[in-house]
Amino acid sequence: MTNTALIAGAGGAASKRLIETLLADPGWSVLALARTPRQSAGRLTWIAADLLDGPACARALAAQHAVTHLFYTSRAKHGETGVESIEDNITMLRNVLDAVEPVAAGLAHVHLVQGTKYYGMHLGPFRTPAREDDPRPNVPNFYYDQQDLLARRRRDWAWSASRPTFIYDFAPERARNAVTVIGAYAAICRELRQPLDYPGSAASFDALRDMTDAGLLARAMKHIATAAACRNEPFNVVNGDVFRWRDLWPRIAAHFGIEAGDARPFAMNEWVRDKQPVWDGIVRRYGLAESRLDHIADWAFADFHWAHSYDVTSSTAKLRETGFTETLDSAQMLLDHLTRYREARILP
Ligand SMILES: NC(=O)c1ccc[n+]([C@@H]2O[C@H](COP(=O)([O-])OP(=O)(O)OC[C@H]3O[C@@H](n4cnc5c(N)ncnc54)[C@H](OP(=O)(O)O)[C@@H]3O)[C@@H](O)[C@H]2O)c1
Repeated sequence: MTNTALIAGAGGAASKRLIETLLADPGWSVLALARTPRQSAGRLTWIAADLLDGPACARALAAQHAVTHLFYTSRAKHGETGVESIEDNITMLRNVLDAVEPVAAGLAHVHLVQGTKYYGMHLGPFRTPAREDDPRPNVPNFYYDQQDLLARRRRDWAWSASRPTFIYDFAPERARNAVTVIGAYAAICRELRQPLDYPGSAASFDALRDMTDAGLLARAMKHIATAAACRNEPFNVVNGDVFRWRDLWPRIAAHFGIEAGDARPFAMNEWVRDKQPVWDGIVRRYGLAESRLDHIADWAFADFHWAHSYDVTSSTAKLRETGFTETLDSAQMLLDHLTRYREARILP
């Protein structure tokens, strides 16, 4: 049996490894939709369309009769402190459904990528480990509207959703990435001969956290979108362990050969303003490929990444019960990603 995945928002954090994972299986072809298409090759075809433009989506997808699975991995643009627009995010999802449903008679599944913000992790302390049926915080969130839209609209196809926490990956094309935030910050501390202080509060240094590896997320998404036990249900997707930054910090410092410091909260987005000359020196010393510090890491995102002074953890029990049992050691995962950046000469 051959499946054809349409990935809507195919250049994002959740989609790069999904494309790889699906193409590694000869039973899948991939249609990758974004405003900025990349190079098509073999069973991967890129499609250019703006999801906010309904007629443009319909034109771009009119001939895609083979689509069996829609993976929705897009999000309307937002600032780190801004609230994502419900109207835009609903319009984008509805536009792609309106375009695909009439032409793809074999559409079997629509999968939505959500996140821990479903539980209000961006609002303040919440019940942890979060479980999929926890009550929704009484605050608007586009995830609720999108999930409700799918549940209401479901016809011959089933829906599902994945809820990762922060996504970690080797993704040089994406500055909004905690791996490069940590790596560039540590490299600058080393260059300045300073210890690796933790940029968040003491409470966030000690809070319990979890991580989601992009590759694990991709394999889980494939499982969720195809396993009968996952139809019409949401699932948390995290690595399966928990950690505290305080325990992980000395290992990150050791990776860069410096001392670990203590919690010293500061705004990275301000701290970084005079650091480009320091980075220029690092680039020269280590022969690095990328000279712009704001291309390496998104420093507004950095402040959001360290902002949570309470536990942020999700239960994986529901997903494991459906047969997806993969786990990862989060500390090792982070160090492995840092090593890949070092080998690619993007981080020292
Ligand atoms: N990033 C994380 O760490 C993280 C963690 C947990 C959950 N999530 C969730 O994962 C989902 C995807 O997040 P993300 O961070 O990957 O999002 P993103 O990078 O902001 O967007 C994903 C992709 O969507 C495409 N896109 C955006 N607007 C579009 C439009 N109007 N038309 C067509 N394509 C459009 C973009 O490609 P083009 O610019 O080329 O169009 C982009 O590559 C969201 O629900 C998010 O909440 C993300």
